[in-house]
Amino acid sequence: MSHAEEHQGTRRDFIYYATAGAGAVMTGAAVWPLVNQMNPSADVRALASIRVDVSAVEVGSQLTLLWQGKPVFVRRRTQDEIDAARAVNLADLVDGNAENANLDADATATDQNRALSEDGVWLVQMGSCTHLGCVPLGEQGDFGGWFCPCHGSHYDTAGRIRKGPAPRNLPIPVAAFVDANTIKLG
Ligand code: FES
Repeated sequence: MSHAEEHQGTRRDFIYYATAGAGAVMTGAAVWPLVNQMNPSADVRALASIRVDVSAVEVGSQLTLLWQGKPVFVRRRTQDEIDAARAVNLADLVDGNAENANLDADATATDQNRALSEDGVWLVQMGSCTHLGCVPLGEQGDFGGWFCPCHGSHYDTAGRIRKGPAPRNLPIPVAAFVDANTIKLG
């Protein structure tokens, strides 16, 4: 197992905030109280749906949480990221499907069909590489989105696969805003 793979395996066991840019990662204990507060009496892994307070997520950063045993990325995108994603020609995409559980199965992979909010600011997607399930790293790779170091898959700022062995865009789970600061997953 390479160092990168080992690192990914470790990361998966945590619920953490990744503060993009600063490179700071706060793991485990610091974030548990927040999660416990949101879900006072239940095992987070077992919940079919959870509510996530996103008010503290700054522009250009990502909240990563564990839901049903899998990582979920909640990113508050910058305008540059949105513009870059919207400028992409759909013919250049490896996977032309939105892979969005909130839409029809044949919805195309436009940025509008990937983003959770109409303004494109919020992007919520599963943090599992569609190749073999490693956790991709944010703000990395050739397209400024996510990069999976396990075998070199590059995703763009809409989480669409652009290069490398991964076959599909990062899946978007059932998600919706229930109020201005709260996203419900599931
Ligand atoms: S698991 Fe991501 S590239 Fe293989």
